Amino acid sequence: MSTTLEQPRSARPSIGAPVDRIDGPLKVAGAAPYAADTPVNDALHAVLVQATIPRGRIAAIDDGAARAVPGVVEILTFRNAPRVRELRFDWTTPMPESLAPLQDDVIRYDGQHVAAVVARTFEAAREAAALLQIRYDAEAAHLDIAHPAETRLPDDWFGDNPQSRRGDPEAAFAAAPVQIDATYTTPVEHHNPLEPSATVAQWNGDDLVVHDATQWVIGARNCLAAAFGIAPERVRVLSPYVGGGFGCKGWFWAHTLIAAMAAKHVGRPVKLALTREQMFTSAGHRSETVQRLRVGAARDGRLAAIRHDVRTTTSRVAPWVETAGAPTKFLFACDNVGVHHEVALLDVTSPTAMRAPGEAPGTYALGSALDELAYACGLDPLELLRRNHADTDADEGLPYSSKHLLACYARGAEHFGWERRAPQPRAMRDGRDLVGYGVATAVYPALRSSAQARVTVGADGTIEVATAAHDLGTGLYTIVAQVAADAFGVAPHDVRVSIGDSSLPPAPVAGGSMTTATVTPAVADAARRAIAELVALASRDPGSPLFGLGTDAIVARDGALVVRGDPSRAAALADVLKGSGVASVAAVGEAAPGDESRGLAMYSFGAQFVEVRVDPDFGTVRVSRALGAFDCGRIINAKTARSQMIGGIVWGIGMALLEESVRDARTGAFVTNNLADYHVPVNADIPPIDVLFVEEPDYALNPLGARGIGEIGITGVAAAIANAVYHATGIRVRDLPIVPEKLL
Ligand code: MOS
Repeated sequence: MSTTLEQPRSARPSIGAPVDRIDGPLKVAGAAPYAADTPVNDALHAVLVQATIPRGRIAAIDDGAARAVPGVVEILTFRNAPRVRELRFDWTTPMPESLAPLQDDVIRYDGQHVAAVVARTFEAAREAAALLQIRYDAEAAHLDIAHPAETRLPDDWFGDNPQSRRGDPEAAFAAAPVQIDATYTTPVEHHNPLEPSATVAQWNGDDLVVHDATQWVIGARNCLAAAFGIAPERVRVLSPYVGGGFGCKGWFWAHTLIAAMAAKHVGRPVKLALTREQMFTSAGHRSETVQRLRVGAARDGRLAAIRHDVRTTTSRVAPWVETAGAPTKFLFACDNVGVHHEVALLDVTSPTAMRAPGEAPGTYALGSALDELAYACGLDPLELLRRNHADTDADEGLPYSSKHLLACYARGAEHFGWERRAPQPRAMRDGRDLVGYGVATAVYPALRSSAQARVTVGADGTIEVATAAHDLGTGLYTIVAQVAADAFGVAPHDVRVSIGDSSLPPAPVAGGSMTTATVTPAVADAARRAIAELVALASRDPGSPLFGLGTDAIVARDGALVVRGDPSRAAALADVLKGSGVASVAAVGEAAPGDESRGLAMYSFGAQFVEVRVDPDFGTVRVSRALGAFDCGRIINAKTARSQMIGGIVWGIGMALLEESVRDARTGAFVTNNLADYHVPVNADIPPIDVLFVEEPDYALNPLGARGIGEIGITGVAAAIANAVYHATGIRVRDLPIVPEKLL
């Protein structure tokens, strides 16, 4: 077990502590600049116009009335827009749709961008956009998961093989004494970050600067460069603050490119923000799923067979697969497992990653089926989960790097008071309300990529960390500061952090819950290198109290280098630089997954417990308590980590009870395209939420033992709620969301 990246602890170690967000004051003061807030002199405003048919061609464009609006500068359509190259998704150019905007007259879905009106004011652009007349030649479209154009995995699906098979699941199911055969459905859901996507694009000659609400500045930079056919170094993308993303800002959507195309065309900076309605068409969604689970078991509840068949959808231009069967491959001990996905290709807007893609709907279906199995076996549902605990990953045939799921079940149950659960449904009441308890398993892969970070110590001794990573409200600013602060023996609020800029040392997408595991070791490495350089400077300086000493003899503390065991011999960082005649020291550190992770399956786990109260007359469900117990490795910041988990559980409550995007059957367009019709949880929907961490460091994942924790919080929540609703009412809802009419 290695902790070599850490310097000896100062008096104020901050890793693990509930450190307040260093960016908090800026945010609450309204002073954190989000993309659309970027002040740019002379900027024009662009408003997008979108197709109103699902499939066909543009037959005619009449822009006379639109161009007559005072203040309109230009109207871009396929006829006059700058030519750009069509991109296909890969991990350097993360374009979620194979669709170059405004390049041809073909309509591929209702909501596709077909024009951008550029004007001196937003109001003029919006008025002209409403006056633009576009006539279409419509063709027959496929809009329904039950009637697709084709059903297959998309050609350029970039993820792991979603199919899996071991043993003989069909025969084992047929022979099993207890069988559950049930189909669960989940609707389309939308990310709905508070901040809609927005772009401010500015060309300086052939150089492009873009402020964009993105989870991946380097991905956006690469896409812009590739689309315009220019070198990536000529493009800079900045995204220092992101008002939520949940996956929709993880990829490069067409509006960012259109803003840059418009700016190029008119020779002025252009600002473009998606409307809330456009967030439902143009930044992805979670696809609907239909999941049939056949689960066979012995009478003692031990699993004999699982077959999980997932049907989902994508657009004809997006290679996305909602891999709901992914967790079924390994989550429980079972010798006979079959997981199969099929994807209906439709003429609809493109889906993408959203809040634990795959795992969120998958753990709902699997967690519900296992609960059904528990009742069929006459077992406590938690006992059934325990009995089927997987000690190894049978899908990969690998041991786990670090798995403490049984501890999550045990500690969660104890804190929740699971033993107070009555075995039978409809057996617990509080006044008029039926009360139910539910439990389900949470899981998310522990991913890691490679990253770099730069630590600079300035002439006045200030410490700055820079990396092209992102903070979506997740807390990255603060944990980066903590890691550097512990290395230098200072307080986190004494460290300056710069992130969200493609010109900084590279970091990956803020997705897949991998930023913490990826970026913090690079920061630790950069800090170690910077300190080593400072020690070398002091060691060579005859005037320094540290003259002739090596790294082993010195620690950094309180803005100084101090001789180990002799605090009286110290040199302030500023004095080290001054004494050496050096203006500043900058060191780039890097970290990447190494051999330590080979041959191991790496996941975070958890147990979700909920209590619901159901009004038997109205069918209303209220979650009255929720508790998540998680095994997520070492926790860097107890406060931001807890907040992440609370956020995930809140989204799980939304998924279970509220969220549903409804398509117009005639066009495929979403009719619930606003926050009045698309329901997300509000404070009144949210009960007290408890979060527990089983803090077992995972040193196979990275030297700090820390895993990312963005997405696991939502997993298992919808199943736990559906299971609690069954326990309360005796009604099994297999179709999310659990709205009142499904309980009457
Ligand atoms: Mo996450 S859905 O990988 O941003």
